[in-house]
Amino acid sequence: MAKTPKESGTLNLYQNKTSLRWIILLVSTLIGAGSIFYTNYLVKQIRDRETKQIELYANTLEYIANEYDNPGLNFTLEQIVQSNTTIPVILANESGYPVEFKNLPVFANIKDSTLRIHRLISEMQLMAEEHEPIKITFRVSPDEIFGYGYIYYKNSDLLTQLRYYPYIQLTVIAFFGFIAYQIFSYSKSAEQNQVWVGLAKETAHQLGTPLSSLMAWVEYFKTDENSNQEIVSELNKDIERLETITSRFSSIGSVPQLKTYNVPEIIHESIAYLEKRVSTRINFSITTFPTNELYAKLNKSLFEWVVENLCKNAVDAMGGIGDIRIKILRVNDGQIAVDISDTGKGIPKSKFNKVFQPGFTTKKRGWGLGLTLVKRIIENYHEGKIFVKSSENDKGTTFRILLKS
Ligand SMILES: Nc1ncnc2c1ncn2[C@@H]1O[C@H](COP(=O)(O)OP(=O)(O)O)[C@@H](O)[C@H]1O
Ligand SMILES: [Mg+2]
Repeated sequence: MAKTPKESGTLNLYQNKTSLRWIILLVSTLIGAGSIFYTNYLVKQIRDRETKQIELYANTLEYIANEYDNPGLNFTLEQIVQSNTTIPVILANESGYPVEFKNLPVFANIKDSTLRIHRLISEMQLMAEEHEPIKITFRVSPDEIFGYGYIYYKNSDLLTQLRYYPYIQLTVIAFFGFIAYQIFSYSKSAEQNQVWVGLAKETAHQLGTPLSSLMAWVEYFKTDENSNQEIVSELNKDIERLETITSRFSSIGSVPQLKTYNVPEIIHESIAYLEKRVSTRINFSITTFPTNELYAKLNKSLFEWVVENLCKNAVDAMGGIGDIRIKILRVNDGQIAVDISDTGKGIPKSKFNKVFQPGFTTKKRGWGLGLTLVKRIIENYHEGKIFVKSSENDKGTTFRILLKS
């Protein structure tokens, strides 16, 4: 079978995808920071303007209070006072008692005057934390001070809203981005599912026809005295093998039947088959805990495929020499764990998840699909889990499969 070299193949796609993700993250962070920065700048501008406006307001009030004989001017000044329709203010007398307020509709609605005064006083405290109250001096004549007044004020609603606006905006955008991403990746994985299932079905279907014809031929040769029966028996084994492959493809292309099996038994069978086909310098060992009978729900042909794939990877990682140890044990919640350990070159921690991605391979002639298939079989068809349990450079790797019992 011809294979594309991995340099030009799918591996690059993953590297590009990762760097693309970083670029998107960086650009969004810049946009977010930029918008917060700019809004803060606007807030500062408006704040300065509001402070100037309130100072003018205070000066005006002081002026009105101290000028009795100029009605024309007073009228103009009153208009200035009225023109403040945004900044909430409370006027207090010398002893800190509120006498008037403006742009605070909540307080205007309080009918009970004692309660209103009470609330106004606590509001004044809040205002004082935000801005130093402005002191106005009332005079009888230029030299005679009659008393003082205080103007408490706070930022207009507009300013407050503007300050929080970018955070709200960014949260909403991030939320929608997240939803969109979920929908996108869901539809992407639905699409991938269709490709897997479709391709598998088609393969099984196409293999079916020549296979049944081959089987008919073998049956014929079995009865033919002139045929070499040794060759016929070998041919028969190959056909059985092809049948297994066809059944795997057809299982992955449909909703597979799960049955309760004794897991150690299935593993022994698969290993017996594999042992004959790999280098004799690979030692297999199988241990079970606590008993030899550990049942789980399986699709036999798919599960065998999983064991085969994991063992083949282990053999590759060990360069054909080493030990493959399989432990089958009962773990929490009655799940059955199958640990497959090798004494190979190991997987770096940063690649523990990556090895399951399609196209990820470190082999010259690898497709990087083996573990993807394994993961699909375990997670989608068995509702189990598979992960790299541990790995150490040049010491070995352990994969763990969790199955429902
Ligand atoms: N037991 C293992 N020890 C070390 N590396 C492994 C092991 N199993 C898988 N890998 C790494 O994961 C990669 C992907 O494996 P796989 O999906 O089976 O694809 P392929 O075998 O075609 O490379 C391998 O190329 C290898 O780098
Ligand atoms: Mg492989």
